[in-house]
Amino acid sequence: MSATAIAHTNIALIKYWGKADPALRLPLTNSLSMTLDKFYTQTTLNLQASDQFFLNNAQQTGQSAERVFTYLHRLERRLQLPTKHYLVNSINHVPTSAGLASSSSAFAALAAAFAQLHHLDLTKQELSILARLGSGSATRSIFGGFAEWQTGTDQTSYAIPIDEHPQLDLQLLVVELDQAPKKISSTIGMQRAQTSPFYQTWLDRNPSEIAQMKAAIQAGNFDQIGKLAELNANEMHALNLTAQEPFTYFEPATIKLIKLVQDWRADGLACYYTMDAGPNVKILTSLKNSKVIRQRLAQLLPSAKIVVTNFGPGVKSWSNSDME
Ligand code: PMV
Repeated sequence: MSATAIAHTNIALIKYWGKADPALRLPLTNSLSMTLDKFYTQTTLNLQASDQFFLNNAQQTGQSAERVFTYLHRLERRLQLPTKHYLVNSINHVPTSAGLASSSSAFAALAAAFAQLHHLDLTKQELSILARLGSGSATRSIFGGFAEWQTGTDQTSYAIPIDEHPQLDLQLLVVELDQAPKKISSTIGMQRAQTSPFYQTWLDRNPSEIAQMKAAIQAGNFDQIGKLAELNANEMHALNLTAQEPFTYFEPATIKLIKLVQDWRADGLACYYTMDAGPNVKILTSLKNSKVIRQRLAQLLPSAKIVVTNFGPGVKSWSNSDME
């Protein structure tokens, strides 16, 4: 018997950058993201005599396997299920290597495959809570389109759909500048960011940034969405630069691209950027401008890899016997 789930990666437009409770992965602020169509994880779970984890057909040992099995056994205890052992097969459908790998799709797929394997009849909210225990951003990958993850308690902190099928002319160009795995994990980055003198401002501004982003989405106002996303990303990265032990995810190519986006905008091209816990840049633009931007990128940053993404769907899971 086995179960499979597919979950898509999401990119936060209003970021999660601080934990209120690290063990329960409760966030200090709400966050809001866009689920992407091009990047996803497909995970199949089987029961077997011992725990084994394969990622892209290569057996994993060490930290990444430990994180997966600590998570699965934590779910068993939480749901009062007997201890089992699992064969986990995950395929990360990310066009290139480590630079864009994301825990959001990984843990959303793992949570959904686990629920399916154990025949748990969970609501999407409950699934989002289980995904949260693996990775905060995974809460939002349960839903397609735009999703918001709310602060709260263990029982109330989950994602909710904002608009699962947006009719918005928005494209996200994922520009891979560096494929090296991130040097400072999001967990460590968040801890350090909390020592910034601006951290309280980050917390205070969140309710209005979320409200403004939701209003912009509802109004279908691309420029407003882009402006708010860019400002929020800059605020997050400013926390890192002003932490007691300062750090940055920016590499020289990140700054180069930020300046290009600013120049293109000054030239009248509607485009904005956002970045996460790594050096790669995501450009928000419209279908009309996407081609020109890609041409300019190919000319000015020839080694960068570009993936054009759009809105992706929420998580799906099935028992493999269903498919026979
Ligand atoms: O859930 P994590 O640990 O992958 O942290 C995600 C952190 C950011 O990607 C920077 C922001 C976010 O909300 O996704």
